[in-house]
Amino acid sequence: MEKLTPSVFLISLYLFFSIATFLPASGRPRTYIIHMDKSAMPAAFSSHHDWHTSTLSSLSSPDGISPLHLYTYNHVMDGFSAVLSESHLDQLHELPGHLATYPETFGHLHTTHTPTFLGLKKHTGLWPAAGFGDDMIIGVIDTGIWPESESFDDKGMPPVPERWRGACESGTEFNSSYCNRKLIGARFFSKGMQQAGINISTTDDYNSPRDFMGHGSHTSSTAAGSRVEGVDYFGYAKGTAIGIAPKARIAMYKAIFFNGTFTSAATDVLAGMDQAIEDGVDVMSLSLGFHETSFDLNPIAVGAFAALKKGIFVSCSAGNSGPHAYTIDNGAPWITTVGAGTIDRDFAAHVTLGYGDLTVTGKSAYPENLFVSELPLYFGHGNRTKELCYAYSLDPKEVAGKYIFCDFDPSNQNDPTYEMDRTGAEGVIFCSNYGLFYEPTQFNKPFVILNPTDGELIKNYIMKSKNVTVSIRFQTTLLGTKPAPQVASFSSRGPDIRSPWILKPDVLAPGVDILAAWVPNRGFAPIGEDDYLLTDYAIISGTSMSCPHTAGVATLLKAAHRDWSSAAIRSAMMTTAYVTDNTNGRIIDMTTGVAGTPLDFGAGHINPNKALDPGLVYDIGIQDYIDYLCGLNYTTTQIRTITGTSKFTCDNAKLDLNYPSFIVILNNTNTTSITFQRELTNVADGSSVYRAVVNAPSGLKAVVQPATIIFAGKHSNARFQLTVDVDVGVASIPQSDYFGNYGFLSWYEVNGKHEVRSPIVSAFAP
Ligand SMILES: *[C@@H]1O[C@H](CO)[C@@H](O)[C@H](O)[C@H]1NC(C)=O
Ligand SMILES: *[C@@H]1O[C@H](CO)[C@@H](O)[C@H](O)[C@H]1NC(C)=O
Ligand SMILES: *[C@@H]1O[C@H](CO)[C@@H](O)[C@H](O)[C@H]1NC(C)=O
Ligand SMILES: *[C@@H]1O[C@H](CO)[C@@H](O)[C@H](O)[C@H]1NC(C)=O
Ligand SMILES: *[C@@H]1O[C@H](CO)[C@@H](O)[C@H](O)[C@H]1NC(C)=O
Ligand SMILES: *[C@@H]1O[C@H](CO)[C@@H](O)[C@H](O)[C@H]1NC(C)=O
Ligand SMILES: *[C@@H]1O[C@H](CO)[C@@H](O)[C@H](O)[C@H]1NC(C)=O
Repeated sequence: MEKLTPSVFLISLYLFFSIATFLPASGRPRTYIIHMDKSAMPAAFSSHHDWHTSTLSSLSSPDGISPLHLYTYNHVMDGFSAVLSESHLDQLHELPGHLATYPETFGHLHTTHTPTFLGLKKHTGLWPAAGFGDDMIIGVIDTGIWPESESFDDKGMPPVPERWRGACESGTEFNSSYCNRKLIGARFFSKGMQQAGINISTTDDYNSPRDFMGHGSHTSSTAAGSRVEGVDYFGYAKGTAIGIAPKARIAMYKAIFFNGTFTSAATDVLAGMDQAIEDGVDVMSLSLGFHETSFDLNPIAVGAFAALKKGIFVSCSAGNSGPHAYTIDNGAPWITTVGAGTIDRDFAAHVTLGYGDLTVTGKSAYPENLFVSELPLYFGHGNRTKELCYAYSLDPKEVAGKYIFCDFDPSNQNDPTYEMDRTGAEGVIFCSNYGLFYEPTQFNKPFVILNPTDGELIKNYIMKSKNVTVSIRFQTTLLGTKPAPQVASFSSRGPDIRSPWILKPDVLAPGVDILAAWVPNRGFAPIGEDDYLLTDYAIISGTSMSCPHTAGVATLLKAAHRDWSSAAIRSAMMTTAYVTDNTNGRIIDMTTGVAGTPLDFGAGHINPNKALDPGLVYDIGIQDYIDYLCGLNYTTTQIRTITGTSKFTCDNAKLDLNYPSFIVILNNTNTTSITFQRELTNVADGSSVYRAVVNAPSGLKAVVQPATIIFAGKHSNARFQLTVDVDVGVASIPQSDYFGNYGFLSWYEVNGKHEVRSPIVSAFAP
């Protein structure tokens, strides 16, 4: 990694992993995932596990190296993983019952104020309706957990639900007694990574559920952390830390380990998901990703399908590869794929000139308050209008001991903090448009970034005055900042490269500057040149952070509506999501500063209280997903690998699902017409009448048939079709690459309060 600035460090860690597929090289044994046909198991075996291990030991090993069994999978698939030579592989392929073999792959990683930002309130709405997630269990597949964190304190929690079959495993610096009524399970899965060359005893990571990095503690506490008063990050974001589902239970499945970077093996992720299903979790949260391959090759897609069959809701991060189109990970339509938005909070410093003559506020998260406050301010020589503070441009004799004022433009690659260090200046005030893009950990030196308008005020003041002094008050937190939310520049954008016919991401959730639990023994905030400050609560950004927010909301919805399927929960979140920000404008894309599109924010930003009562939902059954896989032209073996069933036909193959969004892919054309079939289910009490309204630009015509639907009562269904005519040549103002145009279909309840809204979007094929 060249130029290891803290932000580069963060992005490469937190945001999503990139993946490499192993090509089997001859000779050396490799790790494989082997799918077996359980109907071929001889009656003599009492379990799959016995069958698999017996199968393995029956293989001959001409080179003297025996096969090594890693995991038996019971839920995510019928099969196992093992380390095999090519000779073993050839023998396996000949055996009855062998279905498919995949080589190991690797994935990488991709408060607090967010419950308030999401509108969660103690006495009304989703929190009380869901009993705060009481009795729900969230399984988190991540880097482990720090059980001593106050966010995992179980004060006031009722006993562990009796249905729970999980366990608290002991290991390096982790004792099975560390679990409690909040953290009810903790396991770890490192066999795949150990086979891949990681030596846990030398990496400093823990061969136990203990969190080495902090990421898993952060995501877990975001989803379901207990209420902790008086939390802050070096003086910023002071307040109460609380998870989205504060009474839900947490079970950690550690499957990400440190190997120079944080990496996860497909065999370990499958084992973690398999165990989570076995243990009885209600919701799974996965803030990591594998390269977007066909779904049968992707362990998260395969594991999530098994979870779907058991009614477990799966929330995944969309990835941090934005802002360009077709960068989505975890795009399987049975997963809820979550992009990242900003919140209405910012970290700041007040800059005061003279004796309070002029005060402006800029972006900073410098983690200390300075003792020396009033200092001379240096701005160029004489009457400059710009000072770029290039390397070696300043004279230490003139600036040592002062604050320097510099214009900053990253495209010029001037780094004024370099001049600050070289010259002995005390700190820097930058004038730049780029403050928004700075992560808290980048403020390792005392500097503030002012927007150009405030920067001009300061310049004018300096021009008029002599010997200007300045004082800076760091550690200021601003709330209610506007516009918010915005789509984070790093958030991966749709469509999904492998499955563009279903709009992804599904929704946006908070994922920028999120404060949550951290590991207290790992230096987090860089300060000065080589030091790091320790913290119990850290502020980080990524779709890794938005994913557990959505998992928490899904947990609350499931607690409030025990009979809803995963598709119904997602539908409720999507059709009630909002697309306007707190200035009543369309949610903007932080990268461009202009209105975003559904390729950026999906159906919009989650709105938990509204999702509690969506009126209607678009439900999806297992067979529908199979029909979609058939539409993708997957082979019988691929479909069987994903779905775990051989009992299906492809008579109904189609490239559409009963999804609460509509996407038209334009393939080498500017015009097309598509008809979508949909079915709505009334989930509100009593009968109701809904009327369809389409809101779309010219260039996107959508006709609903029928346009009025009467629902007899709760659970009653009705079908409709939507015919979309796209003519992108006519009226498109493409704002992001591959984007065509978009509008909305809303079903409004007549004499009622429900609006059930879906985006309709057109995009160009990759
Ligand atoms: C785990 O903790 C219990 C209770 O503190 C203790 O008795 C036991 O020896 C510990 N086990 C290990 C393996 O450290
Ligand atoms: C882990 O690190 C070892 C040693 O650097 C390397 O050989 C191996 O390829 C790495 N494995 C993964 C999965 O990154
Ligand atoms: C892992 O590291 C330890 C400590 O250096 C060493 O004793 C052990 O042999 C290593 N194991 C492997 C498989 O390399
Ligand atoms: C400004 O500071 C310089 C150097 O400290 C000093 O010589 C000069 O008299 C000061 N001017 C005023 C107006 O205070
Ligand atoms: C599937 O195969 C059919 C028939 O060859 C073809 O028309 C269709 O475009 C294919 N679909 C996809 C998604 O590749
Ligand atoms: C689509 O429209 C654009 C802009 O009008 C035009 O440049 C392009 O050639 C059109 N493409 C096709 C396939 O008609
Ligand atoms: C677009 O058309 C090409 C050529 O017909 C085909 O190979 C490709 O799969 C199509 N892509 C999509 C997204 O339909």
